[in-house]
Amino acid sequence: MSATSSVRRTFSGAQPTGQLHLGNYLGAIRNWVHEQSQYESYFCVVDLHALTIPQDPRELHAATLRTAALYIASGIDPDRATVFVQSHVGAHAESTWLLNCLTPMNWLERMIQYKEKAVKLGEDVNIGLFDYPVLMASDILLYQPHVVPVGEDQKQHLELARDIARRFNDRFGETFRLPEPLIRKEGARVMSLQDGTTKMSKSDPSDLSRINLLDTADDIRNKIKRAKTDAVLGLTFDPARPECYNLLTIYQILSGESPEAIESQFAGVGFGKFKPLLTEVVVEFLKPIQTRYREVTAEPGHLEAILRDGAIRAGQVAGETLGNVRQKLGLLAPL
Ligand code: AMP
Ligand code: TRP
Repeated sequence: MSATSSVRRTFSGAQPTGQLHLGNYLGAIRNWVHEQSQYESYFCVVDLHALTIPQDPRELHAATLRTAALYIASGIDPDRATVFVQSHVGAHAESTWLLNCLTPMNWLERMIQYKEKAVKLGEDVNIGLFDYPVLMASDILLYQPHVVPVGEDQKQHLELARDIARRFNDRFGETFRLPEPLIRKEGARVMSLQDGTTKMSKSDPSDLSRINLLDTADDIRNKIKRAKTDAVLGLTFDPARPECYNLLTIYQILSGESPEAIESQFAGVGFGKFKPLLTEVVVEFLKPIQTRYREVTAEPGHLEAILRDGAIRAGQVAGETLGNVRQKLGLLAPL
């Protein structure tokens, strides 16, 4: 295996579609920030994955830069972690072809996210959407990471990446490290503000369903005010009350208070009293991220330089693994 050094590695990514929201932050990026001090870290803006759903080219371009800037604004330190854009490292697409040729169709047919998206898209489903998990497996396996921090919804894709790695290793000899998913329970599944039984998502047609990291204080106030609730007095972490559970969980993570303290504070309170407090906590929490975002994007060329550097560093690591894969498969080296 090429990654034999004792440094532990981590890899993760998010799609540049729409805006990063509180679910992305609490389920994924917050953990990346934590991981970067312990691992050699690679954080990718997965623009090729975004193309699996029709995109407006100008918006994709803007969203790619915005997503990278939000990684940095959220606390990813480009001096410690490698931040880059997926399509800048050609090895991801090339490796996808090679792994496609080893992946049975029926492994992909089982993917829940594909099935859900395919139902929504009807006739608009393209091969890229079906193949999405193999591209994701390539992203991961090229970097030989020990752990991959993601939200709960990506667990099945990660298992597939492990299955593909195992199959390759069995057929061609030890090549890929089998990565472990790192799913922190708290925040792993932040739910929609409009429906406590569906996850907060960039693709939900209603912007009221999510809090975007760049929302203004007024947006946030309005969204929380209109968030769905129930009519029970007294707020508890009761899974049978999905909206209440979700709002309390957001409050808990952002305020840093314990669930017990929160339950006793809000035992006799209704949502009318709670919502302004939640608004305050969310607005205050996002303020420094938004300030940093403005700083990162204000300096001409700053973000571009980070991404240029990132692509070079990532390209070296990915290229090494890809070279090994090509050789194992028996592809003639360029002459
Ligand atoms: P995506 O928005 O699909 O590109 O997801 C980027 C990362 O955010 C992945 O690790 C997801 O698992 C995570 N994520 C997305 N939505 C949520 C959510 N509602 N709750 C927790 N994590 C999420
Ligand atoms: N599919 C992931 C999502 O939508 C994004 C992603 C692409 C990813 N490649 C990855 C996450 C590699 C972790 C590792 O959330």
